[in-house]
Amino acid sequence: MELNRVSNSRFNQIPMVDLKEELKLIRDPISEALSKVLDSGQYILGEKVEKLEKLIAQYIGTSYGLGVANGTDALQLSLKALNIGPGDEVITTPFTFFATGEAIAQVGAKPVFVDIEDETYNIDPFQIVDALTENTKAIIVVHLYGQAAKMKEIMEIAQTHNLRVIEDACQAIGTEYDGKKVGAIGDIGCFSFFPSKSLGAFGDAGLVVTNQKILYEKINSLRNHGSEKKYHHSSIGMNSRLDEIQAAILLVKFSYLDTFLDKRRDIARRYTESFNSLFKVPPIIENRKHTFHQYCIELDSRDELALELTNNGIDSAIYYPVPLHLQKAFQYLHYEEGNFPIAERIANRLLALPIFPMLSVQKQDYIISTVKNFLENNG
Ligand SMILES: Cc1ncc(COP(=O)(O)O)c(C=O)c1O
Repeated sequence: MELNRVSNSRFNQIPMVDLKEELKLIRDPISEALSKVLDSGQYILGEKVEKLEKLIAQYIGTSYGLGVANGTDALQLSLKALNIGPGDEVITTPFTFFATGEAIAQVGAKPVFVDIEDETYNIDPFQIVDALTENTKAIIVVHLYGQAAKMKEIMEIAQTHNLRVIEDACQAIGTEYDGKKVGAIGDIGCFSFFPSKSLGAFGDAGLVVTNQKILYEKINSLRNHGSEKKYHHSSIGMNSRLDEIQAAILLVKFSYLDTFLDKRRDIARRYTESFNSLFKVPPIIENRKHTFHQYCIELDSRDELALELTNNGIDSAIYYPVPLHLQKAFQYLHYEEGNFPIAERIANRLLALPIFPMLSVQKQDYIISTVKNFLENNG
């Protein structure tokens, strides 16, 4: 099949996420909020950041929230606050965005990967036990695409082996597990507000949540050059502060969050009703509430379908084509192809379809019929 990108006749190219369409809805309150920040003369770690920290902590169900520069820093600051560094091992999934493993390496610790579950594509708790050594200090759990990982089993392993748990909830704001929001279950929860996330800023932004005062105090200091008092530095920290402009934008967008997550779930429901007899779709699991940051389908002819969608004016994406253990940057860890067969297989089979709150029913129908037509002709 040849790449023959044409605009579909009915719509413009359908993107993975349409932030311009969303802006039409929120432009006025955003402009008003921005203008107040400009007039305030306070641009970093001010009143808006504090308000956002309180609001998100309350939403997630934790005592503390701390605005930081991005999700990657949220992970790195969390590891630092837990005193994790050279000589320590941190267990995580190889099937995630690079930043999860990168943060572990950035603090000088060793990322240790274990395979994922077939069902959810999240870390398989039973494999964690096999990877434990005397150097294991923590687990970073990723709630991939907005689907919660098996937190009960993971927390039990952590308690038994005296490990700390960081939740990488960068793709999972609002996701629930057993009635609790993810991010509030482990020691620390990390969020990214990268523009395309379910709650996205207009630039880089992130947040850390925790129930532990001591961790809150450490991260509060670490995000600001390890200082509690101006020009007095008790540790080597980072410059990872959230600015008022991003916080003001996020405060406006936060008021739409639950409605937008419901819309994502509605679209997911329609996709699932249309596709579940054709190929594997994201599972809806009892006691877990998926937020569909991504909607990924699993099929043999993934690449052919992606091409067909492109040819019909529909974007799709592969998250992620190369698992972390096979990334060049992690060659020094000496993993090989075949080490994590599920992650490797899934990397060749998943395709993410457009899902975002402003995706119209007509466009959803067009995506559904294009996928179905492809399968009828190629199944
Ligand atoms: C699972 C995961 N972890 C970490 C990050 C890093 O977040 P950021 O891009 O805000 O640094 C992202 C976001 O891209 C992510 O999806």
